[in-house]
Amino acid sequence: MPLKIVLLGDKDSFNTHIAEEFIDLVKAVQSQGEDIRIILGGGKTPIDVNERIVHYTSNSKVDWSRIVIFFSDERCVPPDHSDSNYKMVRKTLLEPLKIPGKNVFRIEGELGPERAAMKYEKKIARVLGEGLESVFELALLGMGADGHTASLFPGSKAIKETKRFAVPAGKGPEGHERVTLTYPLLNRCKEVWFMIRGKEKQSAVRRLIHGSFNPEKCPAQGISPADGELVYILGDGLNLTSSIS
Ligand code: 6PG
Repeated sequence: MPLKIVLLGDKDSFNTHIAEEFIDLVKAVQSQGEDIRIILGGGKTPIDVNERIVHYTSNSKVDWSRIVIFFSDERCVPPDHSDSNYKMVRKTLLEPLKIPGKNVFRIEGELGPERAAMKYEKKIARVLGEGLESVFELALLGMGADGHTASLFPGSKAIKETKRFAVPAGKGPEGHERVTLTYPLLNRCKEVWFMIRGKEKQSAVRRLIHGSFNPEKCPAQGISPADGELVYILGDGLNLTSSIS
């Protein structure tokens, strides 16, 4: 898969670049008469990006009723809990853009990790078809300072999953049990964009780009879409130095 790295100096250009690229991709897919299917990540980075997308969309020709939203992972909390990724995306993107609820497929974390994972796999199959012949056009992921992405944590069982599309992920740093999409699904996306900013991630970025391939230690390295494009969007003080600390 082709790898592209985009370096953006400050937070504003980071958020603007992603918002513009996102809207361009949605318009391009819609111009082919398709409903675009997108996987959104959680955490804090997407908050400002989503708000920039909303800001830019006022003069874009995007039909937000023709976008289908899935989630890369979720904490096992109710959907109105302050730690819920769904709640963050609902407040910063879904509600402002009036994306219809029927197009939004959240992970029902409140059911507990195993039941939520099983139910989510059924939702994925329903939307994408059992054979999964069609895939997601885009996954917008983040990366933690430990190299995790989605809720694929270093040394976890979830990174070894080769068949299931959604599995229990163990506990996240905030203490909640989690559910995560797995490499078999994430690596079937047509495009995967990593949105990474903040100096605290510099050593994880070095390992991601320059480290020997070891998804056990740096799960973000395990994301390599077989027939898709992988983009690392790095901003806010990150650089590409090769020395691994
Ligand atoms: C989550 C996310 C997770 C996130 C990274 C980066 O549920 O926490 O899906 O993978 O993308 O932890 O988070 P920040 O954007 O907050 O640094």
